[in-house]
Amino acid sequence: MPRINDHYLKLSAGYLFPEIARRVQAFADHHPEAGRRIIRCGIGDVTEPLPMAARDAMHEAVDELGRRDTFRGYPPPFGYDFLREPIAQIDFADQGLDIQPDEIFISDGSKCDCGAILDIFAPNQQNRIGITDPVYPVYVDTNVMVGNTGPATDSGYEGIVYMPCTAENNFVPKLPDQPLDLIYLCYPNNPTGSMISRAQLKEWVDYALEHDAIILYDVAYQAFIQDPELPRSIYEIDGARKCAIEFHSFSKNGGFTGVRCGYTVCPKELTAKDAKGNDVELHPLWQRRWSTKFNGVSYITQRGAAALYSNAGREQVQSLIDFYLGNAAILRDGCKALGLDTYGGVNAPYVWVRCPDGVDSWGMFDRLLHEAQIVTTPGVGFGRCGEGYFRISAFNSRENVEEVVRRMKAMSAQAV
Ligand code: MLT
Repeated sequence: MPRINDHYLKLSAGYLFPEIARRVQAFADHHPEAGRRIIRCGIGDVTEPLPMAARDAMHEAVDELGRRDTFRGYPPPFGYDFLREPIAQIDFADQGLDIQPDEIFISDGSKCDCGAILDIFAPNQQNRIGITDPVYPVYVDTNVMVGNTGPATDSGYEGIVYMPCTAENNFVPKLPDQPLDLIYLCYPNNPTGSMISRAQLKEWVDYALEHDAIILYDVAYQAFIQDPELPRSIYEIDGARKCAIEFHSFSKNGGFTGVRCGYTVCPKELTAKDAKGNDVELHPLWQRRWSTKFNGVSYITQRGAAALYSNAGREQVQSLIDFYLGNAAILRDGCKALGLDTYGGVNAPYVWVRCPDGVDSWGMFDRLLHEAQIVTTPGVGFGRCGEGYFRISAFNSRENVEEVVRRMKAMSAQAV
């Protein structure tokens, strides 16, 4: 009889968002009337229609596949040049950054890449892993799955070095006092909506270079950075080509959460050690992993993604970002007006709020759901340091966002 991967049994709870969905469904089943008023600001799933440029390009791509002379089968495993080239040009060369098209790997989304990257690193606790707390749960859970941790304890999984992100350090962790091999950073940050400064990011790059570490830098929310002083890519920092892999997504800028497309940058300078202590380049390993386990993103999807780089596509993406940032401002101002300690929501679509009256994260989740039919994400679901906070997502209609603020106001008036 086959044996399972026992590491899965260590996973302490269901994945956060399905767990929230389960609790919301249970509430709606028991309170059908109230259930119809539910406004979902939990998972950061986009609500606005796809940009017209992407839609047109995808329609055209479908028609091409419907004609013998323009039909295409398997896509190239790492992505079509018609997408890799504008990415290299617009996201990097135009910003003065040196990233070549063949260092860009088109994928079905950055969540998948954040998990898949562990395929090319030694499993079973052979690497020292640093993860911020609170954090996007995928980084932790995927490390558990490949055996990079011991069992879950009250202070998290044994074997992970948690790097606290608190209001006191503006949600940017201090440099570790021990050497790490793989470090996860995400800015604009999910879940706290905070940003890292260029000087702080440089400290991390310098740390990684000094300790031969690799930073796994997630910029899924890059499009929300409006302040030109803030770093949009880790490759803005000298030396990052030698120590960083960067994950990008079209989910939150192009509204592709359902379409599925993103990309990973793996520079050719990156190396890590084999079991004998030799330096091995990561780019060929990632390429090998990719061509073996993936058959590429569909032509239709890649045409849609490439259209986001057209002039029209870029304008349409910017209006989506402006719209969601407008929502974030309403939520942030609304929470502040209620006297709540409120963070994020400026260069990010997430607003991070301290629960009032010493209520804990799940307690606040329940209160908002039961009393106001608002779904949020409990901060503790992102890690121990998230306890006592809740996250509100700005991905929603304007009407719903305004209604969320009205309901929170009514709730707080009742509590007085
Ligand atoms: C979130 O709500 O944190 C994100 O939507 C999750 C994701 O992008 O996978």
